[in-house]
Amino acid sequence: MASELNINICIDVLDSAEELTQQEREAMEMAQQAASDAYAPYSNFLVGAALVLEDGTMFKGSNQENAAYPSGLCAERTALFAMSAHHPNKKIRMIAVTARRRSEQHFLPAMPCGACRQVMAEYEHKQHEAIPVLLQGPDGKFYRLRSVGDLLPFQFNKEHL
Ligand code: THU
Repeated sequence: MASELNINICIDVLDSAEELTQQEREAMEMAQQAASDAYAPYSNFLVGAALVLEDGTMFKGSNQENAAYPSGLCAERTALFAMSAHHPNKKIRMIAVTARRRSEQHFLPAMPCGACRQVMAEYEHKQHEAIPVLLQGPDGKFYRLRSVGDLLPFQFNKEHL
Protein backbone atom coordinates (compact mmCIF):
# COMPACT_ATOMS: atom_id res chain seq x y z
CA MET A 1 0.00 0.00 0.00
CA ALA A 2 1.27 3.47 -0.82
CA SER A 3 2.34 5.53 2.14
CA GLU A 4 1.64 9.18 2.52
CA LEU A 5 4.13 11.99 2.95
CA ASN A 6 2.64 15.03 4.62
CA ILE A 7 4.46 18.33 4.61
CA ASN A 8 3.60 20.71 7.39
CA ILE A 9 4.18 24.40 6.84
CA CYS A 10 3.79 26.75 9.74
CA ILE A 11 3.06 30.40 9.05
CA ASP A 12 2.74 33.04 11.77
CA VAL A 13 -0.07 35.41 10.90
CA LEU A 14 0.52 38.85 12.39
CA ASP A 15 -2.55 41.05 12.46
CA SER A 16 -0.77 44.37 12.11
CA ALA A 17 2.67 46.00 11.98
CA GLU A 18 2.50 46.36 15.77
CA GLU A 19 3.02 42.61 16.08
CA LEU A 20 6.28 42.69 14.12
CA THR A 21 9.67 42.91 15.81
CA GLN A 22 11.47 46.21 15.35
CA GLN A 23 13.80 44.64 12.79
CA GLU A 24 10.86 43.17 10.88
CA ARG A 25 9.09 46.51 10.90
CA GLU A 26 12.18 48.26 9.56
CA ALA A 27 12.63 45.62 6.86
CA MET A 28 8.97 45.84 5.83
CA GLU A 29 9.15 49.64 5.73
CA MET A 30 12.22 49.41 3.54
CA ALA A 31 10.42 46.96 1.24
CA GLN A 32 7.46 49.36 1.04
CA GLN A 33 9.82 52.20 0.15
CA ALA A 34 11.51 50.03 -2.45
CA ALA A 35 8.13 49.25 -4.03
CA SER A 36 7.52 52.95 -4.51
CA ASP A 37 10.79 53.14 -6.50
CA ALA A 38 9.94 50.17 -8.73
CA TYR A 39 10.43 50.59 -12.45
CA ALA A 40 7.14 49.03 -13.55
CA PRO A 41 5.71 51.15 -16.39
CA TYR A 42 4.03 48.13 -18.04
CA SER A 43 2.27 46.35 -15.19
CA ASN A 44 2.07 49.28 -12.76
CA PHE A 45 2.39 46.56 -10.13
CA LEU A 46 5.05 47.76 -7.71
CA VAL A 47 6.96 45.14 -5.74
CA GLY A 48 9.57 45.82 -3.08
CA ALA A 49 11.92 43.47 -1.29
CA ALA A 50 14.29 44.12 1.59
CA LEU A 51 17.05 41.94 2.95
CA VAL A 52 18.62 42.12 6.38
CA LEU A 53 22.16 40.74 6.48
CA GLU A 54 23.96 39.19 9.45
CA ASP A 55 25.78 42.43 10.27
CA GLY A 56 22.56 44.44 10.16
CA THR A 57 23.16 45.82 6.67
CA MET A 58 19.87 46.27 4.85
CA PHE A 59 19.49 45.92 1.14
CA LYS A 60 16.53 46.64 -1.08
CA GLY A 61 15.29 45.77 -4.54
CA SER A 62 12.28 46.52 -6.70
CA ASN A 63 10.92 45.04 -9.89
CA GLN A 64 12.64 46.30 -13.04
CA GLU A 65 10.54 45.92 -16.17
CA ASN A 66 11.56 46.16 -19.80
CA ALA A 67 9.88 46.86 -23.14
CA ALA A 68 11.05 43.36 -24.10
CA TYR A 69 8.94 41.89 -21.28
CA PRO A 70 10.97 38.81 -20.31
CA SER A 71 14.09 40.93 -19.92
CA GLY A 72 12.75 42.45 -16.71
CA LEU A 73 13.35 41.10 -13.21
CA CYS A 74 11.30 40.68 -10.05
CA ALA A 75 12.01 42.69 -6.91
CA GLU A 76 13.19 39.69 -4.89
CA ARG A 77 15.79 38.62 -7.42
CA THR A 78 16.91 42.20 -8.02
CA ALA A 79 17.60 42.51 -4.28
CA LEU A 80 19.21 39.08 -3.91
CA PHE A 81 21.52 39.37 -6.90
CA ALA A 82 22.60 42.89 -5.96
CA MET A 83 23.19 41.76 -2.37
CA SER A 84 25.26 38.78 -3.46
CA ALA A 85 27.29 40.94 -5.85
CA HIS A 86 28.07 43.44 -3.08
CA HIS A 87 28.33 41.10 -0.08
CA PRO A 88 29.11 37.64 -1.44
CA ASN A 89 30.00 36.19 1.97
CA LYS A 90 27.41 37.65 4.29
CA LYS A 91 24.48 35.63 5.53
CA ILE A 92 20.91 36.77 5.05
CA ARG A 93 18.85 37.02 8.22
CA MET A 94 15.53 38.03 6.68
CA ILE A 95 13.72 38.69 3.44
CA ALA A 96 10.69 41.01 3.48
CA VAL A 97 8.41 41.43 0.46
CA THR A 98 5.47 43.69 -0.29
CA ALA A 99 3.53 44.94 -3.32
CA ARG A 100 0.98 47.53 -4.38
CA ARG A 101 -0.72 48.88 -7.45
CA ARG A 102 0.60 52.25 -8.60
CA SER A 103 -2.90 53.73 -8.43
CA GLU A 104 -3.48 52.69 -4.80
CA GLN A 105 -1.65 53.44 -1.59
CA HIS A 106 -2.48 50.26 0.34
CA PHE A 107 -0.19 47.27 0.16
CA LEU A 108 -1.28 43.94 -1.28
CA PRO A 109 -0.39 40.35 -0.45
CA ALA A 110 3.07 39.67 -1.84
CA MET A 111 3.52 36.10 -2.99
CA PRO A 112 6.96 35.54 -4.49
CA CYS A 113 6.85 33.87 -7.91
CA GLY A 114 8.30 30.42 -8.45
CA ALA A 115 11.55 31.68 -9.97
CA CYS A 116 12.14 33.99 -7.00
CA ARG A 117 11.46 31.15 -4.56
CA GLN A 118 14.07 29.07 -6.37
CA VAL A 119 16.62 31.89 -6.14
CA MET A 120 15.86 32.45 -2.44
CA ALA A 121 16.31 28.71 -1.93
CA GLU A 122 19.75 28.86 -3.57
CA TYR A 123 21.01 31.42 -1.07
CA GLU A 124 19.40 29.63 1.87
CA HIS A 125 21.12 26.41 0.82
CA LYS A 126 24.43 28.24 0.30
CA GLN A 127 24.47 29.74 3.79
CA HIS A 128 23.42 26.54 5.62
CA GLU A 129 21.01 28.57 7.74
CA ALA A 130 17.32 29.19 7.36
CA ILE A 131 16.24 32.56 6.03
CA PRO A 132 12.97 33.74 7.59
CA VAL A 133 10.59 35.33 5.09
CA LEU A 134 8.16 38.11 5.97
CA LEU A 135 5.38 38.67 3.45
CA GLN A 136 2.77 41.35 3.24
CA GLY A 137 -0.51 39.52 3.71
CA PRO A 138 -4.13 40.51 3.09
CA ASP A 139 -5.91 43.30 5.02
CA GLY A 140 -2.82 44.78 6.66
CA LYS A 141 -1.70 41.41 8.01
CA PHE A 142 1.76 39.91 7.63
CA TYR A 143 2.87 36.32 7.13
CA ARG A 144 6.07 35.14 8.78
CA LEU A 145 7.66 31.93 7.50
CA ARG A 146 10.60 30.38 9.28
CA SER A 147 12.49 29.50 6.13
CA VAL A 148 12.47 29.68 2.36
CA GLY A 149 11.96 25.92 2.50
CA ASP A 150 8.42 26.62 3.69
CA LEU A 151 7.80 28.58 0.47
CA LEU A 152 9.33 25.90 -1.71
CA PRO A 153 9.05 22.36 -0.41
CA PHE A 154 10.66 19.64 -2.55
CA GLN A 155 13.16 22.12 -3.82
CA PHE A 156 15.85 21.44 -6.36
CA ASN A 157 19.32 22.39 -5.16
CA LYS A 158 22.94 21.59 -5.86
CA GLU A 159 22.75 18.32 -3.94
CA HIS A 160 20.53 17.03 -6.75
CA LEU A 161 23.06 17.72 -9.49
N1 THU B 1 6.89 40.58 -9.61
C1 THU B 1 7.85 40.67 -8.66
O1 THU B 1 8.62 41.66 -8.61
N2 THU B 1 7.97 39.67 -7.77
C2 THU B 1 7.21 38.54 -7.78
O2 THU B 1 7.49 37.63 -7.02
C3 THU B 1 6.04 38.45 -8.65
C4 THU B 1 5.97 39.45 -9.72
C5 THU B 1 6.79 41.65 -10.60
C6 THU B 1 7.19 41.23 -11.98
C7 THU B 1 6.47 42.25 -12.82
O3 THU B 1 7.28 43.41 -12.92
C8 THU B 1 5.23 42.59 -12.00
O4 THU B 1 5.46 42.11 -10.69
C9 THU B 1 3.96 41.96 -12.53
O5 THU B 1 4.09 40.59 -12.68
